[in-house]
Amino acid sequence: MNRSRFAAIVLAAGEGTRLNSARPKVLHEIAGQPMIRHVLDALRPLDPAATVVVLGRDSDSVARAVAPSQSVIQFPPRGTGDAVRVAGPILGDRLAEDGITDVVVLFGDTPLLRAETIAELLAARRASPEVAVAVAGMRPADPGAYGRLVLGADGALLRIVEARDANAEERAIGLCNGGIMAIDAARAFDLVDRIGNDNAKREFYLTDIVAIARGQGLACRVVELPAEELLGVNTRAELAAAEALMQDRLRRRAMENGATLVAPDTVFFSADTRLGRDVVVEPNVVFGPGVTLADNVRIRSFSHLEGAVIASGAIVGPFARLRPGAVLEEDVHVGNFVEVKASRLGAGAKASHLSYLGDSDIGAGTNIGAGTITCNYDGVNKWRTTIGERAFIGSNTALVAPVTVGDGAIVAAGSVVTSDVPADALTIARGNQVDKPGRAAEIRARLLKEKG
Ligand code: UD1
Ligand code: MG
Repeated sequence: MNRSRFAAIVLAAGEGTRLNSARPKVLHEIAGQPMIRHVLDALRPLDPAATVVVLGRDSDSVARAVAPSQSVIQFPPRGTGDAVRVAGPILGDRLAEDGITDVVVLFGDTPLLRAETIAELLAARRASPEVAVAVAGMRPADPGAYGRLVLGADGALLRIVEARDANAEERAIGLCNGGIMAIDAARAFDLVDRIGNDNAKREFYLTDIVAIARGQGLACRVVELPAEELLGVNTRAELAAAEALMQDRLRRRAMENGATLVAPDTVFFSADTRLGRDVVVEPNVVFGPGVTLADNVRIRSFSHLEGAVIASGAIVGPFARLRPGAVLEEDVHVGNFVEVKASRLGAGAKASHLSYLGDSDIGAGTNIGAGTITCNYDGVNKWRTTIGERAFIGSNTALVAPVTVGDGAIVAAGSVVTSDVPADALTIARGNQVDKPGRAAEIRARLLKEKG
């Protein structure tokens, strides 16, 4: 068994200026979660001995997003090399004590990275003790602003040159720096300490450690890895491109796990969406964070789900909206233009049309008529509505919470229910109907006469 361990340093202190945003770059979301969480998720299966995230000033929000990983502040952001140096003291003695053989540096802005890819890079570093640095290389369609990998005639990696500092010949190189590196732990911080800032940006470039290691007679390797996994998000356009790639990956995974997506390209998942087998998702459905579907659930077109747990056999939509805290038990039907928030619908309950069910508990087998509204908010507080089993709520009922409707009760259509309804009662809470025979014809005749 390979007992070597590694420490991960995730860089996230850059200012992300190219996104033109008030929010730290690494908190911009891909598939409903901050991009840096995707990077940490890719590390988890590899069980790093330590993970340190390097953050910028005023980034409590990022520190919270990466917890329980340790974080350290780099300020001012003086470049990727400086960021790695700042993490050094945190790892300090742990490198030797925990038998850490490698330091893997990752960027918080490469959300598509997978565990397998990190493992491949690590394996390349460990292949021989002479290899001080293994760099993830890639050949993106547009090398743009990526660093270029300069190889010697024998194919060895000589140095990395940043696009801004490259001459025309170097810019023409298609092999680019994917941004992740595995470095021999025994040498990592010594190499990093030697980085200078004599370059276009006056920054300490991590990429310079390749030339520094070569200068010491050490070997550096490139492992060519899939460019789409190494996509670095620096602009809104790249954010959208990363989202598209992630969605493709999530759609493929959903189908492999036994869900039918009628029109995959129109379904949007969150990274944490969980689907059972034989789920059917019709076209144009959006899954926000925190959705779990059991087997045999059908989500019909144009529905939006977030924070919802749905048991088997349920049918949702078309045009339904499930908000956080929606729990649908077996065989529930939630139909068009129904919004459910912080509410549990018991097995077989139905709310088929045009309703708002918020902060409510609805018993098994109950029917919620079209247009029923739980009036849960009094302008200051939220209150709950409780409806028993097998109740029948007539169309266009307003349930003014807090209120309870007992098992088996019938509430007449158009009621405004302000006090509790006993079990098995019929409740009519609306104005009485008054019929005036012939009166309509009289009015019409008069109006026509007046008009002449
Ligand atoms: C970097 C690489 C480039 C590579 C590309 C891949 C360097 C010098 N350049 O360029 O070769 O092709 O990534 O995506 O390494 N960061 C800090 N502190 C800093 C500066 C940056 O923590 O002082 C963090 C950023 O938050 C980001 C990561 O490091 O997560 C990379 O920084 P970024 O500015 O995006 O570098 P690139 O210009 O993309
Ligand atoms: Mg970048």
